[in-house]
Amino acid sequence: MKNLLVPFVALCILVSNQKVSAQTEPLISPRPLALQMAKGTFQLSAGTKIMAATSLATERIYLRDKIEAAAGLKISPIPQVKAASNKISLLLNPVLSKELGKEGYELIVNAQGIKITAADNAGLFYGMQSLLQLISANKAHQTVNIPFLTIKDKPRFSWRALMLDEGRHFKGEKVVKQLLDDMASLKMNVFHWHLTDDQGWRIEIKKYPELTKIGSKRKDSQLAWRSEKRSGKPHEGFYTQEQIKEIVQYATDRHITVVPEIEMPGHATAAIAAYPWLGTTGEKVDVPVTFGKFKDTYNVADPKVYTFLEDVLTEVMALFPSKVIHIGGDEVLYDQWKASPQIQALMVKEGLKTPADVQIWFTNKISKFIASKGRRMMGWNEIMGGKVHEFMDEKETTAKEKLDQGTIVHFWKGTTDMITSAASKGYDLVNSYHIYTYLDYDYKEIPIRKAYDFNPIPEGLDPKYDKHVLGLGCQMWSEFIPEVTDMQQKIYPRLAAYAEVGWTDLSRKDYTYFKNTMKLIEAHWKAEGIDVAVADYEAKAEKTK
Ligand code: ACM
Repeated sequence: MKNLLVPFVALCILVSNQKVSAQTEPLISPRPLALQMAKGTFQLSAGTKIMAATSLATERIYLRDKIEAAAGLKISPIPQVKAASNKISLLLNPVLSKELGKEGYELIVNAQGIKITAADNAGLFYGMQSLLQLISANKAHQTVNIPFLTIKDKPRFSWRALMLDEGRHFKGEKVVKQLLDDMASLKMNVFHWHLTDDQGWRIEIKKYPELTKIGSKRKDSQLAWRSEKRSGKPHEGFYTQEQIKEIVQYATDRHITVVPEIEMPGHATAAIAAYPWLGTTGEKVDVPVTFGKFKDTYNVADPKVYTFLEDVLTEVMALFPSKVIHIGGDEVLYDQWKASPQIQALMVKEGLKTPADVQIWFTNKISKFIASKGRRMMGWNEIMGGKVHEFMDEKETTAKEKLDQGTIVHFWKGTTDMITSAASKGYDLVNSYHIYTYLDYDYKEIPIRKAYDFNPIPEGLDPKYDKHVLGLGCQMWSEFIPEVTDMQQKIYPRLAAYAEVGWTDLSRKDYTYFKNTMKLIEAHWKAEGIDVAVADYEAKAEKTK
């Protein structure tokens, strides 16, 4: 069967550009791929029934609860019986996967009622998110009049991520669940959870209890970059395995994959503080109270360190069903390795010429271990070698070793040539280029417009390699963001811009439409009690890093 979507999209673009003005096209964020309107409205009321197969009980209940929350309509009890009209039907149809993939859906509103069809539960879930936005936009007293329309929708990218760094500042379960809720309504599907760093180890590992007993606590916190000011307060926190299971389930219910990040071989001071034998020097260190790059690295020449890392990853993989496991790998300072007789001996034995070769050799060992468990490793783009940072020595970063082909490269820093080169060598990658996607950067550096305009496919990439760009991440680093309100102001409203980057086809991106959707989205967030930044949607970037 030919792709039926192409003529449909062409028709809808025609309709949306010529017949339906920007004001009359219903506002859905992220903007759907194709939307066709018809004359008339369907009245949703307390008498409307939700019809779905018994196997879709979770979806039915979710939709009933959300309609009650959005419009105050109690659609209850939910009948299994067929109703001729005045109904919302949820249907699975595997044939649709050809046209719309696993995450796509079709949403039809007409005189018979509302029908959402998808090949998979994920697609149904996203169809429900679009419907809920239509309901919020059209609600009146005890009724909702939804315009007749047909939507066919699917995402541009399969990887639409938000990263939260809790290594630096622990935020806790409630904050994470709120983020997951808001990601879900914007059809984002990867929660990248940065759980370990120099300043904190935040995940219980049963075999190594000191990781959280010592590594999750620090005595103080630096208050600003290069500042001598300190909070004067201790900081601590970690998730028990039970809490992690609950959060993973909460995310799964919202079709979000939680990708854990366990940093290695650098950004590992908290772990080394817990077990000094993990470190290259073997010396005792404290969990740092300042932020930046630290010299403490795992002793990758010691077999005990691999036993430790494999034990940790085994517990991590038991908690997180994600196919992808992130191992960090960024900003490794090579000082300790250069001074270590053990590492020097390893280099001779394995024929490793530079510290970057050592890092790639180590990374490949971990990647093979992860692959042996049926998972796939991901790491920040330093794992490929190359002069990613100004502070790096060109010679030390030149690598002969080759990163395992199955690895996902998480691009954040360096030249865009690095990303096109990785993609053209056949590596899958996620684009989180820092100057576009770092949520800890303020609105002067990344105004909403700049976030919205980010294209994860880099300029100059031969289109035949586009498929290697899985999508994007936006990153909430938290060195200097201890407070939830501050964190929220950094995330909201930019989150919606990144959601649209990940979901909406380039042919459908329209900044005016986006701004119009944001009135509703911001109102929704505010009603949830979120501290949304008062941000200038027209501002241009004042400076770039
Ligand atoms: C990073 O920002 N260090 C990945």
